[in-house]
Amino acid sequence: MEKIVDYIHVQRDRYVEELKQYLAIPSVSALPEHQADVRKCAEWSAAHMREIGLQNVKVIETPGNPIVYADWLGAPGAPTILFYGHYDVQPVDPVELWESPPFEATVREGEIYARGAADDKGQVFMHFKAVEAHMKQNGRLPVNMKFFIEGEEEVGSLHLDQFVRDNKQMLAADVVVISDSAMFARGVPSICYGLRGLVYYQIDLRGTKSDLHSGVFGGAVANPAAVLAHVLAQMKDKSGKVKIAGFYDDVRELTPEERAEWKKLPMDEKAYRKELAAPKLTGESGYTVLERVWGRPTFEVNGLLSGFTGEGPKTVIPAVSMAKVSMRLVPNQNPDKIAHLFEEYVKKVTPGTVELKLTRLHGGKPWMADFDSPYIRAAGRAIEKGFGKTPVFTREGGSIPVVATFQEELGIPSVLFGVGLPDENAHAPNEKLDLGNFHGGIIASAYLYQEIANLT
Ligand code: BES
Ligand code: ZN
Repeated sequence: MEKIVDYIHVQRDRYVEELKQYLAIPSVSALPEHQADVRKCAEWSAAHMREIGLQNVKVIETPGNPIVYADWLGAPGAPTILFYGHYDVQPVDPVELWESPPFEATVREGEIYARGAADDKGQVFMHFKAVEAHMKQNGRLPVNMKFFIEGEEEVGSLHLDQFVRDNKQMLAADVVVISDSAMFARGVPSICYGLRGLVYYQIDLRGTKSDLHSGVFGGAVANPAAVLAHVLAQMKDKSGKVKIAGFYDDVRELTPEERAEWKKLPMDEKAYRKELAAPKLTGESGYTVLERVWGRPTFEVNGLLSGFTGEGPKTVIPAVSMAKVSMRLVPNQNPDKIAHLFEEYVKKVTPGTVELKLTRLHGGKPWMADFDSPYIRAAGRAIEKGFGKTPVFTREGGSIPVVATFQEELGIPSVLFGVGLPDENAHAPNEKLDLGNFHGGIIASAYLYQEIANLT
């Protein structure tokens, strides 16, 4: 391993230059105008995987964005790692808040700024480079590896579950490795053992056939903006509990051991509040901040639209209103069941004065790893070697829909070892990745393959 690590040190600057090229492709999956860029990014990933010595490289069409597959299966008898990541990124708006252009990666004070730097192209690239280092120094990998990189994660992996079900043979492996999460904090490398699930809806209300003069009609018809506010206000009670009947029925309660472990993590709720510039924190009573975001389900309003929002006044009753809302789920909540309960509840609390339309958008199942896994221990050792510190165990509030699918369809565990940081602005302006963590992540990944090989 020594010469592999030496190689990674020597190549450090070139790796960053190459990462810049990857980050320059605006692979925004949510926007139709970037469809060609998304494809270009798939092709770039494929070409790069060929360059580092992977074989059977394929850009596979789906009803949506292409999947990129590549493998190296030259280690008979050794375990097989399925590496999963995504090459698509979130939109950049509001673009004027970026300090440097989102698709011209710029290094400032040891951080590389660009959309996708942390989520997830930078972390995928880390594994490309770990593979390269093994191949260049040894001409082989210590394990068999399959790379499975998708282009629709940020829009809910709509075609991925079906793909996994249809291609079990191609994806067969012993363990999934994913780097699409964050470390607990700077200098605190982490292994993530749980993700929340997601159910996402658009709510549309219509009151009348068109906007109305609020003086002429005000008082006689429903106001869809106000009705929407009423409906949304019915979603949680004063103690922060979601009021949808049956919502908590399948929630796996946090164990006393888990709560005790989380209390040991270096979490300062005051500093957290300050960092967010929030006047006061809130949430389900009886739970700490970490418990609220990692271990409890929640309901959020993601967007609202209605009426006149331009400059100055306009006396109008809007004809329509719209909200985007979502629920984060924890084990063992089922997205389909929660979706059904949500629809029933919204129908019940929406008055008959408006027309209601509910549209289910994307989502995914929650996931939790079996703690007592040799792969998790292998990752622990690899991270220790890459970062010089034993990792802490975290859960995350975010979702990666396919992780539960891997468990259910392929019957294999996932190891989530992410090197992002919570303040790296994923999904926001000025997304960045700490280059020290990128570098440490390459070394840890290179060790991880070896540690997994050593398990046989
Ligand atoms: N990388 C994130 C998921 C994540 C976020 C993991 C924070 C750990 C910590 C991923 O790219 C993401 O943003 N997923 C979406 C999924 C959704 C579009 C179905 C999410 O969580 O909103
Ligand atoms: Zn991601």
